[in-house]
Amino acid sequence: MTDMTRRTLVILASISMLWLGAMAAHGQAAPGAGIANSSHDFTATSTTTVGLCTFCHTPHRALQTKLLWNHALSTQTYSWTDTTVTTGGTTLPTFDATWQGVSKNCLSCHDGTVAVGDVAWFDATPNQTLDATQHSAANDPSLITFSNPGSGDMAGNHPVAHPFPFQGQASSYNSVTTGVPAVASGWQADPQTLGIRLFNDDGAGNVSAGAVVGQAGMECSSCHDPHNGATVLDDYFLRGTLTGNSTAYICLKCHVK
Ligand code: HEC
Ligand code: HEC
Ligand code: HEC
Ligand code: HEC
Repeated sequence: MTDMTRRTLVILASISMLWLGAMAAHGQAAPGAGIANSSHDFTATSTTTVGLCTFCHTPHRALQTKLLWNHALSTQTYSWTDTTVTTGGTTLPTFDATWQGVSKNCLSCHDGTVAVGDVAWFDATPNQTLDATQHSAANDPSLITFSNPGSGDMAGNHPVAHPFPFQGQASSYNSVTTGVPAVASGWQADPQTLGIRLFNDDGAGNVSAGAVVGQAGMECSSCHDPHNGATVLDDYFLRGTLTGNSTAYICLKCHVK
C-alpha cells in the first residue's frame, strides 16, 4: 500500500465514523418525517417490546390526564442559578413537576435524574423500567442540566416556562411578567405563523396550547417538536433550521435582530 492510499483509507474511515456517529446522535428519521426511527423511537432500545408512544403516553393509569403522561417525572425544582433576571429585565422562572407547561415533561428524561424507560403503566403492569439509560455526564449532549449534571440547574440554557411578548406586549406566564426592556426589543408579533408553538397561562394554574395576549409563554416544545412532525425543518427536532439568516432559521422565528 502506498502512503497515499493508506492516507486516503484513513481519511475515508474517519469520514464514515463521523457519519455513523451523526446517524446515532440524530436517529435515522429525516426532519419532519415522524417519530419512527428518530431518537424518540424507543421501540428498538426498550428491554420489553413496546409501542411508539409507550415511553411518554398511556391510555390508562397515566401520572396525569394532561398529555396522558406515562413517564416518571423528576423531583427536581428547575431554576437558573447563575442569573436571576434576563437582560430584558424579566425574572428567570422556577418550575417543578407541578408546573403544567411541557418543559418538565421533557426534563423528565433530559435532566439525567430519571431512567429513560421509567413508565407508570404498560401492558397492564405498573411502574416498569423498560430502559435503564440515564443521562449523567456533563459532556452528554442530551443532558440539559450540563453545568451541574443531574440537578435542576438550568444555567446556560435559553429561558423556558417563561413569558413571550406576544403581539409586542408584556405577558405574565408562570408567575413572571416580561420586563420593560424586553418588550422594547425586537420580536416577531406572532411566531405561531412561522411554525413556533406558544402557550398561555390563565393565571389560575391552567396552561394550554396557543398564545393569548398578555398571557403567552414558551416551553421546550416552542423550538422542538418531540414527535418530529411537519413543522420540524432540521435535526434535533427543530421547528426551524439550525443554520441560516432567513426567518426559517430557528432564532429569527421569534427574535427580530
Ligand atoms: C422518554 C424520555 C424522553 C422524553 C420524555 C423526551 N426525550 Fe428527548 N430524547 C430522549 C432520548 C433517550 C434521546 C436520545 C439521546 C441520545 O442520543 O442519547 C432524546 C433526544 C432528543 C433530542 C436530540 C434529537 C436528535 O436528533 O439528536 C432532542 C432535541 C430532544 N430529545 C428534545 C426533547 C424535548 C424538547 C422533549 C419534550 C418536548 C423531549 N425530548 C422529551 C428521551 C426523551
Ligand atoms: C418522547 C416522548 C413522546 C413520544 C414517544 C410521543 N409523544 Fe406525544 N407528546 C409528547 C410531549 C412532550 C407532548 C406535549 C407537546 C407540546 O405540548 O408541545 C406530546 C403531545 C401529544 C399530543 C397532544 C398535542 C399534540 O401534539 O397533538 C398527542 C395527541 C400525542 N402527543 C400523541 C402521541 C402519540 C399517538 C404518540 C405515539 C405514536 C406519541 N405522542 C409519542 C411526548 C411524546
Ligand atoms: C419561541 C420563541 C423564541 C425562540 C425560537 C428563540 N428565542 Fe430567544 N428568547 C425568547 C424569549 C421570550 C426570551 C426572554 C425575553 C425576556 O423576557 O427577557 C429570549 C431571550 C433570549 C436571549 C437573552 C438572554 C438574556 O437573558 O440575556 C438571547 C440571547 C436569546 N434569546 C437568543 C436566542 C437564540 C440564539 C435563539 C435560537 C437558538 C433563540 N433565542 C430562539 C424567545 C425565543
Ligand atoms: C429557543 C429555542 C430552544 C428551546 C426553548 C429549547 N431548545 Fe433544545 N435546542 C435548540 C437548538 C437550536 C438546538 C441545537 C443546538 C446545537 O447543537 O447547536 C437544541 C438542541 C437540543 C438537544 C440536543 C443536544 C444539543 O444540545 O445540541 C436537546 C436534547 C435539547 N435541545 C433539549 C431541549 C430541552 C429539554 C428543552 C427544554 C428544557 C429545550 N431543548 C429547549 C433550541 C431550543
